[in-house]
Amino acid sequence: MTAIFRPSANLWMKLALLGAAGFVLGGTGWWWMAPRTDWARGVGFTVQQPVPFSHQHHVAGLGIGCQTCHSHVEVGANAGLPPTHTCMTCHSQIWTNADVLAPVRQSLAEDKPLRWQRVNNLPDYAYFNHSIHVAKGVGCSSCHGNVAEMALMAKAAPMTMEWCLSCHRNPGPNLRPASEIYNTTWQRGPDTPSPEALLAQYHVGGRNLTECSICHR
Ligand code: HEC
Ligand code: HEC
Ligand code: HEC
Ligand code: HEC
Ligand code: HEC
Repeated sequence: MTAIFRPSANLWMKLALLGAAGFVLGGTGWWWMAPRTDWARGVGFTVQQPVPFSHQHHVAGLGIGCQTCHSHVEVGANAGLPPTHTCMTCHSQIWTNADVLAPVRQSLAEDKPLRWQRVNNLPDYAYFNHSIHVAKGVGCSSCHGNVAEMALMAKAAPMTMEWCLSCHRNPGPNLRPASEIYNTTWQRGPDTPSPEALLAQYHVGGRNLTECSICHR
């Protein structure tokens, strides 16, 4: 009787199966991992804006406070982006002919707001609110990083559900004194009140912050 398959065919079959298994495993791994990488979440990436606005220049350099431009951050769900006339309070006098500022002048002349592209943007089914975080001792830099060093705004955190929950499970160590909310380089130091003291001061801890209905309403 003549063998239909040579003995080496066995080996090839095994290799092929191994290869297929590896492909499936690797593929599944990639499918699971890929959306969770910093790359997929846009962390560290900048966005093309109508004007290359620099936080480094305006915040660290000129010392303009966040609220001058993000005026709803203590009172609303959204922080708000500055209207053109906020820029023009200065730029009607300085850098009045700069090419980079042409879109700002045009926006004022035509009475059409600048179209800032969003850097951080949650899907609609997730609810977020700035005012409560600010009121309860969570500073801007805990979620947005040190924007005073950003020549162009970059996303500083993945903003995934898991990321939100990692703080909601144990917010104490992330709270800071109210005077430091806008400090872009704040870190816990020896003088910082204990997490327990801050939780008590801000009355945080009465609710289960990981409950679905907190963020999905
Ligand atoms: C409190 C005053 C003030 C406000 C408000 C202000 N700027 Fe400026 N801006 C300046 C000064 C001062 C410079 C820098 C001039 C220099 O290089 O010394 C500048 C520079 C710039 C530049 C040049 C590039 C750079 O950063 O060096 C751009 C672009 C710019 N501003 C855009 C804006 C936009 C857009 C707004 C509104 C969202 C705005 N600015 C609001 C004062 C201001
Ligand atoms: C002079 C005005 C000005 C000041 C002061 C300012 N910002 Fe902004 N900010 C802007 C403008 C304009 C944009 C939209 C363009 C961009 O993303 O760079 C922006 C965007 C942002 C964004 C990204 C918004 C998004 O699309 O997700 C964050 C976060 C932010 N600012 C935080 C801060 C913080 C924190 C401070 C204070 C430490 C601050 N800003 C001070 C004008 C300002
Ligand atoms: C607990 C995390 C957290 C803190 C603290 C926080 N932000 Fe945000 N910020 C976000 C998230 C999440 C978004 C995207 C919201 C969305 O898409 O609905 C955002 C969006 C923004 C935007 C985009 C425009 C808008 O109207 O929302 C600006 C500007 C901004 N933040 C500024 C600030 C400033 C200034 C502070 C400090 C006073 C601050 N944020 C504190 C998480 C935070
Ligand atoms: C660094 C810590 C921290 C991060 C990160 C954080 N939160 Fe919070 N969050 C808090 C604290 C503290 C409170 C206030 C809890 C209280 O009042 O008991 C809060 C409260 C809330 C509330 C309650 C509003 C209300 O009135 O019931 C919502 C909604 C919320 N967070 C959504 C989010 C979402 C969505 C994210 C992620 C994009 C997020 N948070 C990220 C600390 C954080
Ligand atoms: C602290 C806020 C917060 C809480 C609490 C929370 N979520 Fe989410 N959830 C989010 C955010 C923010 C997103 C969007 C993340 C993104 O952009 O991928 C999300 C996304 C989701 C998604 C979409 C798929 C995914 O994984 O991205 C599902 C499903 C979901 N949440 C279910 C739940 C359920 C069920 C609970 C309760 C056990 C819950 N969430 C509690 C903030 C929260």
